[in-house]
This record gives sequence, structure tokens and C-alpha cells, in this order.
Amino acid sequence: MDIEEWLRSLGLQQYGTAFRENNVEAEVLLRLTAEDLKDIGVSSVGHRRKLLEAIAELRESSSAILAEGGKALTQVAELASAPASPTGAERRQLTVMFADLVGSTAISARVDPEEMSEIIRGYQNCCAGEITRFEGHIAKFMGDGVLAYFGWPRAHEDDAERAVRAGLAVASSVAQLRAPEGKPLACRVGIATGLVVVGELVGDKEARERAVVGETPTLASRLQDLARPGSVVVAESTRHLLGDLFELEDLGPQVLKGFETALKAFSVRGEGRAESRFEAFHTGALTKLIGREQELALLLERWSRAEDGEGQVILLSGEPGIGKSRIVRALREHLANESYIPLSNYCSPYHTNSALYPVVGLLERAAQFDRDDTPR
Ligand SMILES: Nc1ncnc2c1ncn2[C@@H]1O[C@H](COP(=O)(O)OP(=O)(O)OP(=O)(O)O)[C@@H](O)[C@H]1O
Ligand SMILES: [Mg+2]
Repeated sequence: MDIEEWLRSLGLQQYGTAFRENNVEAEVLLRLTAEDLKDIGVSSVGHRRKLLEAIAELRESSSAILAEGGKALTQVAELASAPASPTGAERRQLTVMFADLVGSTAISARVDPEEMSEIIRGYQNCCAGEITRFEGHIAKFMGDGVLAYFGWPRAHEDDAERAVRAGLAVASSVAQLRAPEGKPLACRVGIATGLVVVGELVGDKEARERAVVGETPTLASRLQDLARPGSVVVAESTRHLLGDLFELEDLGPQVLKGFETALKAFSVRGEGRAESRFEAFHTGALTKLIGREQELALLLERWSRAEDGEGQVILLSGEPGIGKSRIVRALREHLANESYIPLSNYCSPYHTNSALYPVVGLLERAAQFDRDDTPR
């Protein structure tokens, strides 16, 4: 469903950009409320009413088709998730992950083929679960090899980070699986980012797939060969996009089959220790702060009240990327010579299943826990 076209049919095409910028896609559109429309920037009551009525109509017609046995809602959702040009080739920046089961040939020599296929099925389920949890796309299972894309068909601003998180999750959940004789399984993961051309559908029936042309998938596979069992190795191109989000071990320049020059490779040790995403992505000098005099003056004025014993709470809210963290950083620079204890708690969409994650992070940083510390 083309939302801009739909808006045009209602004579409300002026909201096209706002809908797009707010990621209102077909499946979301059907659930929009008056409050959502306000947030999107539809301030006119008349326009809101008109939109809500049109949405209700859409909802009715899709449930009517559903009732008739059709699949309108699924179709709407499918259309929303379909790539922009489903048939043609597309040039894309893609993060490619390649995962491989360690020692599978040796295991298959020891066990019955049926048992082996059971093991491979468990392993593939494990990979598929983690990769889709981070919204990656499984391009292909090749026996015990798994090829996945992050950035196609749907791109996210943090595809490299998603790929690494998925890679770590795959490695740790494969380690929970057991070979028939009880030994834990292990896999290796390689990740690389680069420009590729996601091509037209090739092959026939079940073998139909979109060919990704470019050296990135080969690089991911070569890096996977380098990885120690249970670990994730990333290319320089991916590392660039990760800031200090993860703790990486430089493996030095590596000569890889098919690549003329030696390439850098990094093994992921785990989550980084940066206090916040802002710190993780801004390790060098920042550009000069522009404007924000009033906001800073207000914050400093409240600071002095707090110093006088009048406790203060300030809520700083705004759109993503508007400069909230930067203002906090500027405030802390102004307070560099003061004595105070900053306590920072950060939420993360990747840790919604971890109870009290922000508090745990705060305590870990305060206690200066190290990755290699023993539990006691
Ligand atoms: N007033 C400013 N002068 C110069 N650079 C700025 C200013 N405000 C923000 N920036 C820069 O813009 C980028 C985004 O800002 P920032 O990360 O602070 O946004 P945010 O509102 O905290 O975003 P998010 O909601 O994603 O956390 C950063 O690189 C920051 O340094
Ligand atoms: Mg921020």
C-alpha cells in the first residue's frame, strides 16, 4: 500500500513526509489513534477526523476481506515489508553474517545421518531464532553454514550493531546445544559490511534466492574461518560502524584467500564499557557546540539552586538526534571543576528482557567490574 498515494486521495498529501519520517507503514496505519496523529504533526482537528474516518474504512475493508477468507491484513503487512523494488537489482550497503558449525564433518562421521540431521536442524533453528530477533534476514542455509543479511530487505540505522549482537547471541545459544555424546556444539561467526548489489531472483522454485554480488559475503565467510570456536570476528568496515559499543580484540592484518591486500580483523569480546551510546560513538573531539545558550543557562541556573540545597529534577525530551545527549555533555563540561557524583542509567531496546538493565549497568560501572572477573 502506498501511503502517500492514499493521503493524496484524501487531499492531505502535505502530511506525506511526516508519515514517512515517522515510519508509518501500512500495518501501523491501521492502528493509528488521534494521539498518534497529533504526535505526527497533524494539528488540525478537521484533518485528524478525516484521517481517522479513512483509517476506520481501511480497517473495515481489510477485515471484511479477511472474513471472506482473504488475507488483506497479511497482504498489507507483506507490502509494507517488501523491498522498494522487488524485481530489479538494488545497490545497498549491507552487513553480511556468515555462521558455521565447528567440526560438523567430524561429528557426522561419528553419528547416524538421522541424528546428524537432527543436530543440524537444532543448530539452524538456533541461528534463525537469534537472527530474526535482531531483524536480520536469513538468505540461505547451506548445510551447517548460515548466510544472513542485515540491511536488506529492511534497513535499520544500526544494522552493524544488530549483526554483532545477533552473532554473539548465535554463538552463545549454539554453545547450549549438545552433540549426541554430550559435548557442547560451537559455531564461528564472521561479519563484514560493504556495498553490494542485491540482484534479481535467480534459481528455480525452492532454490530461488536473491544473489548478492560484491566481495562482502566472501569476506564474511573468510573471517568466519578465522574465528575461534564460539567467537565472532568482524571486518574493519563493520568495526567503523560500531564505535565503542563492543570490546574488540585486534587480530592484526590477515591475508585472506581471494583478497589481494592483507585486511584487518577484530574479534568481539563482548559489550563495551562506554557509559552511554553517545560516549560510545563520540570518542574523539566533538565539533563546536552551536547555540543552546538558553538551554544551558537554564540548566546551570537549576544547578546553582540545587547547590543551595533546593533539589531539582529536569526532564529534557526531544526527537531522536535533536541533541539531548550533547546538551548533557555540555553541562558536564561546564561542571568539570565542581565536585559531584554523576549517576547515569541507560535503557536499551536490546535489553528489554533483562530486568533492571539500566541499574545493573550503573552498578557494574561503579564497581568497575571487568569482563574476566570471576563471580567471587
Ligand atoms: N547544538 C549542537 N551543536 C553541535 N552539534 C550538535 C548539537 N546538538 C547536537 N549535535 C550533534 O548532533 C548529533 C546528535 O546529537 P545527540 O546524540 O546529542 O542527540 P540525542 O537527542 O541525544 O539523540 P538520541 O535521541 O538518539 O539519543 C551528535 O553528533 C551531536 O554532537
Ligand atoms: Mg542521546
